Amino acid sequence: MTELRILLATPHAGYEQRVRQAFGASLNGDLRRWDVDQGEVTADGLLQQLANTSPDVVAIGPDVPTEEALGLARQLEATRPEISVLLINEPTPELWQHALQAGVRDVITPDAVDADVRAAFERTMAVAARRRQNLVGEPDAHGRPGGIISVLSPKGGSGKTTVASNLAVGLAMAEPNQVALIDLDLQFGDVATALGLTPQHTLVDVVRAPGQLDGMALKSFLSAHPSDLWALCGPESPAEGEEVGADQAKRIVEALAGEFRHVVVDTGAGLDEHTLSAIESSTDLVLVCAMDVTSIRSLRKEIAALDQLGMTHQRRHLLINRADSKVGLDLRDVEASLDHPVDVAVSSSRAVPLSLNQGLPLIASDPRNPVARQFAELVERFAELPASVTGSRRRRRGER
Ligand SMILES: Nc1ncnc2c1ncn2[C@@H]1O[C@H](COP(=O)(O)OP(=O)(O)O)[C@@H](O)[C@H]1O
Ligand SMILES: [Mg+2]
Repeated sequence: MTELRILLATPHAGYEQRVRQAFGASLNGDLRRWDVDQGEVTADGLLQQLANTSPDVVAIGPDVPTEEALGLARQLEATRPEISVLLINEPTPELWQHALQAGVRDVITPDAVDADVRAAFERTMAVAARRRQNLVGEPDAHGRPGGIISVLSPKGGSGKTTVASNLAVGLAMAEPNQVALIDLDLQFGDVATALGLTPQHTLVDVVRAPGQLDGMALKSFLSAHPSDLWALCGPESPAEGEEVGADQAKRIVEALAGEFRHVVVDTGAGLDEHTLSAIESSTDLVLVCAMDVTSIRSLRKEIAALDQLGMTHQRRHLLINRADSKVGLDLRDVEASLDHPVDVAVSSSRAVPLSLNQGLPLIASDPRNPVARQFAELVERFAELPASVTGSRRRRRGER
């Protein structure tokens, strides 16, 4: 790998000069220009430019047509999430919206003054550095990195704990003893119940423990689930939960990520400060939404809030729970309203609460159940499930 901090895609040598000037002498070989011809703006061209190098930032210059620029950003988001994208283009509200969806980190006008150009590049580089830190763990055999996955929803009862526990157990089926589930619903957390655990220790014991906790010490506070999943259960009462600070929660999540390939974070309703601190460290967000108008509206507001807070570098996965509810809405309405594709749709089934009552999430207790397979689709966004779980599903797909 060669060292490179910025790849600047533009046919204009003049704009390269502007960026260099904004940084003074400090850039030298850290910036390279991809002298891209308008007709050559293709994903392949970009990946070729990135062979053997991993810059912090790919900046897409003002002369690259917007559609193509957004296409490149989407490609990077999917294949090189450690790289942040800066778009140099007139930042209209409409462009911002499309840019955020394409995973662009920042947009600056081509006429920005030196100080603003430099500030935008530095912000984007800082995000890239954070993002690299968050892409914890070595890639698995399929080249997938591990990560921190926060499960969110503006509403209680929408299925966060159900989704988080099925996801965590599913990941543990794929990668035994490589997965931790942490309960950050400090008021009404019920991960322990969902997993049928009677924890010896909870999150409160971790923050009460003297001294700085390293990852190894943290492990002694976890509860083992028979599925080879490790859980850090929530406090017994909301009063105890108050002892856990948001910064502490963030440090604990990050320490877990040092020890496990995948950390799944179950959260309370909405965006409280603990949830926000977990999101900051997350690589992925699973947004859980029920199939009704108020849930969809609330989630739309939550997504807008995340955008406004600049929490845009996490991959977002939209999961509609009880997606088969007959309420006169279909998935296309949801997608249109949230301006995001539905990644996973989970049906309603009595088997879901029944399995949670037994402390074994459906994905493990009855992997062939159609709803378990829907949870498996979520798991497979992060890891390869063993054929024993997915085998029959793949065969059926093949038959079509
Ligand atoms: N797809 C589903 N089908 C049937 N029941 C479900 C489904 N998803 C969640 N539930 C039930 O709804 C209730 C609330 O779910 P839960 O995961 O605890 O929500 P949250 O954590 O968002 O408050 C639980 O009793 C759970 O078993
Ligand atoms: Mg819950």
